[in-house]
Amino acid sequence: MSEDIEKTISELHIYEKKLLKELEAKPEATPEEIAENSGMDIKSVMSAAGSLASKDIIEMHKDVEEIYSLTDDGMEYAEKGLPERRILDVLAKKEQIHMKDLSDETGVDKKETNIAIGWLRRKNWAQIDKGVVNITEFGKDFVSKMDIDEETLDYLKANADGVKLFTDDLMNGVKKLAGRKNILNVKKETSHSFTILPKGEEILKHGFEIKEQATQLTHEHLKDGEWKSLEYRPYDINAEAPVIFAGKKHPLRVIIDEIREIFLNMGFSEDKGEYVESAFWNFDSLFQPQDHAAREMQDTFYLKNPLTCDLPDMDLVKLTAETHETGADTGSIGWQYDWSEDIARQSVLRTHTTGISTKHLFEHEPPIKMFSVGRVFRRETFDYKHLPEFHQVEGLVCDEGISYQNLLGTLKEFYKKLGFEVRFRPAYFPYTYLSTETEIYLEEKESWIELGGAGMFRPEVLKPLGINQPALAFGLGIERLAMIRYDVEDIRMLYKSDIKWLRELPIDQGVRL
Ligand code: DAH
Repeated sequence: MSEDIEKTISELHIYEKKLLKELEAKPEATPEEIAENSGMDIKSVMSAAGSLASKDIIEMHKDVEEIYSLTDDGMEYAEKGLPERRILDVLAKKEQIHMKDLSDETGVDKKETNIAIGWLRRKNWAQIDKGVVNITEFGKDFVSKMDIDEETLDYLKANADGVKLFTDDLMNGVKKLAGRKNILNVKKETSHSFTILPKGEEILKHGFEIKEQATQLTHEHLKDGEWKSLEYRPYDINAEAPVIFAGKKHPLRVIIDEIREIFLNMGFSEDKGEYVESAFWNFDSLFQPQDHAAREMQDTFYLKNPLTCDLPDMDLVKLTAETHETGADTGSIGWQYDWSEDIARQSVLRTHTTGISTKHLFEHEPPIKMFSVGRVFRRETFDYKHLPEFHQVEGLVCDEGISYQNLLGTLKEFYKKLGFEVRFRPAYFPYTYLSTETEIYLEEKESWIELGGAGMFRPEVLKPLGINQPALAFGLGIERLAMIRYDVEDIRMLYKSDIKWLRELPIDQGVRL
């Protein structure tokens, strides 16, 4: 125990010690008195007191008092009398006054006569009958007597600096006056007092010295050698620090930026597509037949505005049509159906980022190394695993000699940099051969999770675009990576701005390059 006390004492600030000593000498001392006697300013006294209170050494009491005084209007009433009193005085002589003559007869301002009538009635000093104000017996009684609100008014007038305490009677008067507008000023005055708690008593019993201690080492201390002789105040390095929630990027943004950084570092350049795309680029350029299931309304969002998109270069459109219908000179027999320009013109919210790859191939000459990150849209029902919009990163490499091995190597490298180890399994896409899907093993779930598709673009895709070199491409989901990284079970968490979760996520999520 005494060791504890010694430790507590050693960590007391000089102001805390001074304050304790002052309270020992005069337990009922106010903060102002303590400030005066100890030479501290009032702010230091209060902050020392707060600190002592937080350590259960003293207790702080707060007392709030209301101070009443008269406003200018109130003062005028106090001098001239309340309007109902002024009317009563005239009524005492005249017994009755016609409402319309009230102001002229009594000198009470027209604006105030209504209020005055209200009070005359409430106080039962007068009754109104057919537009005439008549004094009551009760009213006659009051001609020579003061009502409680009038007494209070007088009292406040006599104590113009303000009154804190009233007798019960006067307090009733205050309540009555407070029912009128703009008569009373109420000011709140807060005062503090302290009590030494048992721990404080113990500290005082143990005793301590009041000595200047350095809490900070300054440049000057070091320069002039004073640091050698200074006495330092010990710190409690185990003391709890306040939790600070610094502003930071949203976790999904963090992972997207990380992905961009990785591809830029791997020598890819970034392209951007549009959310609204023609079915031509989203489907047809990818050798997806026009009756393909993915094009169905239940999977794809079709737009009303714009209802259609322009088709690109007509040579490209023709070649694409021919490839779909017969395979043209790609070595394939195509899908064997009548290709429709109208269907290709339909505008859709892009269902994947792969249309960016075909457009990029059409607009650029190999060698090409391109990536693109963005939102894609599918008609999914919300649940813990699905959202109607999510993010993909698309990648494309096209040059002489590019092979399926390069594709696997590129993907492995990318995921490794993100901190994931992946495996590949065979897959099918209408636009690639060979095709694969990337998967990651999740220990906790003891299962493989699919991350995205990839493959070598088929000649049916490349030829119409005028590309004769091989091209590898991939389209990978981003939300799932974020879910694994941030240990989120429900994909909706990434979109619902759960402030508690966001605050508590660690800030340090740098790129692992
Ligand atoms: N577009 C596919 C999807 O959304 C993924 C994909 C597969 C992209 C193969 C590609 C690819 O670039 O070659 O699931």
